[in-house]
Amino acid sequence: MTSHTARAAIILAAGQGTRMKSPLPKVLHPVGGRAMLDHAIDAAEALGCERIVVVVGNHSPEVREHVVKRLGEGAIAVQDPPLGTGHAVRAAETAMAGFEGQVVITYGDVPLLKARDIEAAFSSGEGITVVGFEARDPTGYGRLLLDADGGLEAIVEHKEATPDQIKVSLCNSGVMAGPARLLFELLAEVRNDNAKGEYYLTDVVGLARARGAPTRTVMASEDAVMGVNAQAELAQAEALFQKVQRETLMAAGVTMPAPDTVHLSWDTEIGGGATVEPYVVFGPGAKIASGARIRSFSHIEGATVAAGAEVGPYARLRPGADLAEGVKVGNFVEVKNVAMKAGSKANHLAYLGDGEVGAKANIGAGTIFCNYDGFFKHRTVVGEGAFVGSNSSLVAPVTIGAGAMVGSGSVIVRDVAPGDLALARGQQEAKTGWATRFMDRMRAKKALKAK
Ligand code: UD1
Ligand code: MG
Repeated sequence: MTSHTARAAIILAAGQGTRMKSPLPKVLHPVGGRAMLDHAIDAAEALGCERIVVVVGNHSPEVREHVVKRLGEGAIAVQDPPLGTGHAVRAAETAMAGFEGQVVITYGDVPLLKARDIEAAFSSGEGITVVGFEARDPTGYGRLLLDADGGLEAIVEHKEATPDQIKVSLCNSGVMAGPARLLFELLAEVRNDNAKGEYYLTDVVGLARARGAPTRTVMASEDAVMGVNAQAELAQAEALFQKVQRETLMAAGVTMPAPDTVHLSWDTEIGGGATVEPYVVFGPGAKIASGARIRSFSHIEGATVAAGAEVGPYARLRPGADLAEGVKVGNFVEVKNVAMKAGSKANHLAYLGDGEVGAKANIGAGTIFCNYDGFFKHRTVVGEGAFVGSNSSLVAPVTIGAGAMVGSGSVIVRDVAPGDLALARGQQEAKTGWATRFMDRMRAKKALKAK
């Protein structure tokens, strides 16, 4: 029908996920740094679903908590024990009470399915629509049986299929849409007298047909509907996800000479004209502006990098690292929760945590912002144009004034006024000729021993 019809989604996530062999519930495993269940919820939201219900089991309170945190208590339906996909959808009936529009059923372990793959299923109006796909290997899937006109006649599960039906490669993705009222009416008729002794959601197709309601299929790609049941499949989903993300970025003008070595997150933003060298990992929350350069082996998470800035090789940007135009962060430099203003530099071996580095300031090799006293975190502020000599410890809270200098090797515990030089290190002593005398004596000793 049209976009005026109200939409809702029921996301099934009550399975145990035992084949993952992980203490983390299956649907909370991440793809692109985001829980698979969140990808499913994202798709439902992108479709404009005004109500989203997630069917959870009692075995995983973490899943429940996760859903409540994002969508509230109203989004929870409990299925216990799990008696099949049809039974799972029925478990959502109370949470769906009063909803009169179109509902789509999706799965918490199908992370690559996007709103655009489901959209066509929603436009069906009266009857039941099933999202189908051509399977390379249909083993295990329900087969979609079409009538002479190409209409969907029934879905038969692999275990119940006749030898002829087994040969069908058009399979059920599991995603189904239809009017909520019709769907629940049909589900009430579903029985469990089948190979698995379960209430099959798929039986609603045959039941709809029997009462003359239209049933049809819309197609999606096999990749889009892939379900994750084991770790190897999770890795496969991740690989597909990464491929799409990289291609999207390259299409937008990002230069990536070795895309297969770049790992992205679901929300990684990189402007066209930026360069990402080989072997870079982006955790969630990275925003890289057009014209920035991210050099090899850098790890970036929750950080912002402006145009003309250069990061790495071997740099680590942690949450709150905010690099302005032309900033340089070089090898073995870690930056966390620090705003580095335009043109400032930390080129080698440093930890900058909690604070601010003024425009054009230079942070020498080996500089540490000592931000933690074992109980609290404190800020270090380095003023505009200041110069911090190598191997200095700035013990926070502390401020280095604009245009000030810190002598190499200093431990700075008090503020340095603008324009001052601060020296806080041992005094150098010169012992005239001492080294020559010492070495001569030692050489003589060694010569004696060798005889
Ligand atoms: C189901 C379909 C099959 C389809 C396949 C696609 C049925 C009867 N069969 O089979 O036609 O080709 O998916 O992958 O629907 N779940 C619950 N509660 C339950 C049972 C399942 O929440 O009681 C959830 C699972 O967590 C999972 C999803 O529903 O996310 C699918 O269940 P699964 O047991 O994997 O169904 P399949 O046998 O694979
Ligand atoms: Mg399955």
